Amino acid sequence: MSKKIIFSFESELELAKNLTTKINANIGKVELKHFPDGESYVRLHENVKDQEVIIISSLNQPDQKIMHLILLAQTAKELGASKVGLIAPYLAYMRQDIRFNQGEAVAARIFAGLISNYFDFLITIDPHLHRYNSLDEIYSIKNTVLHAPLVIADWINHNLKNHEKKLIIGPDIESQQWVEQVAKTVGASFIVLEKTRHSATEVEISIPDLSSYQDHTMILVDDIISTAGTMLKAIDNIKKLSSAEIYVIAVHALFANDAYQKLLDKKIAGIFSCNTVRHVSNMIDVSDMIARAVKNEKN
Ligand code: R5P
Repeated sequence: MSKKIIFSFESELELAKNLTTKINANIGKVELKHFPDGESYVRLHENVKDQEVIIISSLNQPDQKIMHLILLAQTAKELGASKVGLIAPYLAYMRQDIRFNQGEAVAARIFAGLISNYFDFLITIDPHLHRYNSLDEIYSIKNTVLHAPLVIADWINHNLKNHEKKLIIGPDIESQQWVEQVAKTVGASFIVLEKTRHSATEVEISIPDLSSYQDHTMILVDDIISTAGTMLKAIDNIKKLSSAEIYVIAVHALFANDAYQKLLDKKIAGIFSCNTVRHVSNMIDVSDMIARAVKNEKN
């Protein structure tokens, strides 16, 4: 069987190299540039005829990447690739999933249509499925959704093993799916807080009585940290009720603007993330999980 060719965006190169050792693949040479006027330029320096092509690009800052992605996928097809798949460890445009206000674009559906037009399959990790039950509701291509809780739990077991009692905390109801599984696998208790969002940056979070967890290490787990408003508020509220050590773990470390610094300023015990979006907090490796999904991708 011929090797797959992986074309990677710069930010995913480490993950892509890691994958080539786990699946039967080579990294393909590609030029991704911008003309002085901002238009995108793509050139493949690889013969893709009758080859399976996989493009790896995490879709944080998606508007800066989408033209390169489309030009790359379409060019691979025009040059005879047998299949063109997308590994997007972080999938963008999942939160604007309804028309909240009259006249708004339902970006999740439109973006899904665009990706479905150019790719044959999609592999992603914990997309923000809130009002959709599955990606099939908006993506018309074959998609594989992977979940990070087991690798997060495994990481906690290895790295926080000296913390005998742990409380896994979800900052809002949507995070329950992650915290419940992490807690179960780690053998810890969990609680889920109540969040009310007032704007993109302002949230209110209510916190229950923590008196029975005073001797526990608190581990906040969420899918995304963007402005960090959610985590900052949750940390403030936990600190009002407890002096326990606090850790923060996210699947996708988006960290908009100075969000990471604001979180560092809280001087908590640690801030960690999966390597789905390249960031200094990446400690939890998802490449084994992605490799398994690629191997399961049938011709
Ligand atoms: C929202 O429901 C998500 O699960 C995250 O809680 C949210 O995206 C975090 O955003 P931010 O860091 O901007 O508060």
